[in-house]
Amino acid sequence: MTSTLLDIDEVLLMGPGPSAIYPSVYEALAAPTLGHLDAQFIGIMDAIKGQLRDLFRTKNMLTLPMSGTGSAGMETCFVNLVEQGDRVLVLINGVFGKRMADVAQRLGAAVTAVEFEWGTEVTVDRVKEELAKAPYDIVAVVHAETSTGVINPVAEIGKLVKPMGALYIVDTVTSLGGIEVSVDDWGIDAVYSGTQKCLSCPPGLSPASFSDRALEKIRGRSKTVPNWYLDLSLISSYWDGAKRSYHHTAPINMLYALHQSLTEILSEGLENAWARHRTNHEALVAGIEKLGLAMFVSPHARLPMLNAVAVPDGVDEARVRSILRNEHKIEIGAGLGSLAGKIWRVGLMGYTARPENVQRFLSALESSLRAAA
Ligand SMILES: Cc1ncc(COP(=O)(O)O)c(C=O)c1O
Repeated sequence: MTSTLLDIDEVLLMGPGPSAIYPSVYEALAAPTLGHLDAQFIGIMDAIKGQLRDLFRTKNMLTLPMSGTGSAGMETCFVNLVEQGDRVLVLINGVFGKRMADVAQRLGAAVTAVEFEWGTEVTVDRVKEELAKAPYDIVAVVHAETSTGVINPVAEIGKLVKPMGALYIVDTVTSLGGIEVSVDDWGIDAVYSGTQKCLSCPPGLSPASFSDRALEKIRGRSKTVPNWYLDLSLISSYWDGAKRSYHHTAPINMLYALHQSLTEILSEGLENAWARHRTNHEALVAGIEKLGLAMFVSPHARLPMLNAVAVPDGVDEARVRSILRNEHKIEIGAGLGSLAGKIWRVGLMGYTARPENVQRFLSALESSLRAAA
């Protein structure tokens, strides 16, 4: 029997994730699998924790990759920190903010969802207003809203949240590695990300980090965490301490891949990686405008790694994406939810964010628009 894997196309991933994988990460995936309690593997786990602290810019001891995609990181933060009846304020301007509210609601939290128009950012003044009205146990926001291409002012919101005594949960699935994320300076208590965006690893792990205040809340819970797999107090016995014990079988080779991608990013330097994302984003926007197209988001709120391009009137957006994928071997994303049919989402994440990819995409887009007309 022949494997269908032999037919896989080499596609340039320029959607909302996954992104292009570093060649060295593919090699790392193929390294020999060790046992999950092997001393050599535990050394790799410790190295990853240190690398993640550098990436998140935190001293948090509990900094680790959760097994599972970005959504597992989201669930981990909420399931460990939320107790029945907790007052949770969720700031929503896209699909992933909505998802946070859904997760918190399922845990029995009293959720207040403050919504902002999709394509615009969460405003600090509106958050200030809401925090003045009622006390909250938790405030949650998405840093880089992948569904719209908008950046939210996480640092400024953090300055409001901390003095109120609430815990601050931030989604950095799309931002981490592509723009500044400074967990300690910004007063973030629980943060999660994903491997398949600016880390340029396959999907499958969710780097996360928890402050001492978050740990205090977890230790003081009146009831056990209502999810065994994501219970941090159990997982810590595998990821922390001199003697490690089995919790679940770690995805060994994915952890090799993460270790290698973090090695790539930290060798490049965080500031250099952010600048590379910015430069390639600017080149992309210039090219998009030269083609007579318009960006969906105002310049000040644009993410460099997720570029929302307005679909021009009368253009069959699905046909353009299909020509790009089938004839040019380039994947871009469609709009989600209320933005379906209205935008294309063009990713410049991690290893994808290189000038040759921007140029290849722009010329493929030009010819795809012509072919779809
Ligand atoms: C901002 C944001 N949060 C959460 C998620 C969920 O991550 P995953 O699809 O890896 O579970 C995504 C995925 O695109 C995302 O962009």
